[in-house]
Amino acid sequence: MRFDVITLFPELFGPFLQHGINRRAFACGAVDVRLWPLRDHAEGHYRRVDDRPFGGGPGMVMLAEPLARCWQAVREQRKAEGAPSVPTVLFSPQGVRIDHALVEREAQGAGAILICGRYEGIDQRFIDQCVDVQLSLGDFVLSGGELAAMALLDAVARLQPGVLNDEGSHQQDSFNPALDGLLDCPHYTRPEVWQGPRGAAVVPPVLLSGHHEQIERWRRQQRLAASARLRPDLLQQARQAGRLSADDEHWLRQLDLPDAGGL
Ligand code: ADE
Repeated sequence: MRFDVITLFPELFGPFLQHGINRRAFACGAVDVRLWPLRDHAEGHYRRVDDRPFGGGPGMVMLAEPLARCWQAVREQRKAEGAPSVPTVLFSPQGVRIDHALVEREAQGAGAILICGRYEGIDQRFIDQCVDVQLSLGDFVLSGGELAAMALLDAVARLQPGVLNDEGSHQQDSFNPALDGLLDCPHYTRPEVWQGPRGAAVVPPVLLSGHHEQIERWRRQQRLAASARLRPDLLQQARQAGRLSADDEHWLRQLDLPDAGGL
């Protein structure tokens, strides 16, 4: 898959693409990321990329013309290289919130053209004519789309085969439908007793028992408890999809959950 990223700050992506576990996906081209510096497509001595908003008001608005020129250049190169046609994504607080299902779809897709907005916004005419979908990280405002682009690329790259050290490890992820969309369970490693700032803390004994069935049962219960306490909406979705067993419901009734969706 190939992602073409249009950005005013391509240098922000350098360390991200070169370090960490995902660099494997980027280095071998499984996730081919091409950076397109927007300023290269701006005209004039100052290579302007923004201007004041019509109608007045604070801040600057990104010009449609350099964005469209850069976007055309991306599309022409993709076509010349035989890359499949892909949607154009704009990162914006007005977008659809990115979730696990969207990441899984992207991880199996052909890629996208990613537009990182900056400043107070982008000329709406570019959005109307060139953008297929707007995506958001959440209900807060970033100063630009670069972090959101990196978040999506990171989440997509780690799902590529051969990227994580242990192939099974993303099966354990929070939100994974294979685990009924629940939150992940807690994890522990050595030492068995850790002297923390609030005293000695032990590993739950079942994890040291070697009894796989009991460990799996404990993990399921912890996923249910974490979801009930922290994300009752996820628990409710699992229940409505018929994914909770009588055993699950029995365990949930034993928990002290005053506001866990009418349990
Ligand atoms: N750009 C600015 N705010 C954003 C957000 N919340 N998500 C994605 N891109 C953004």
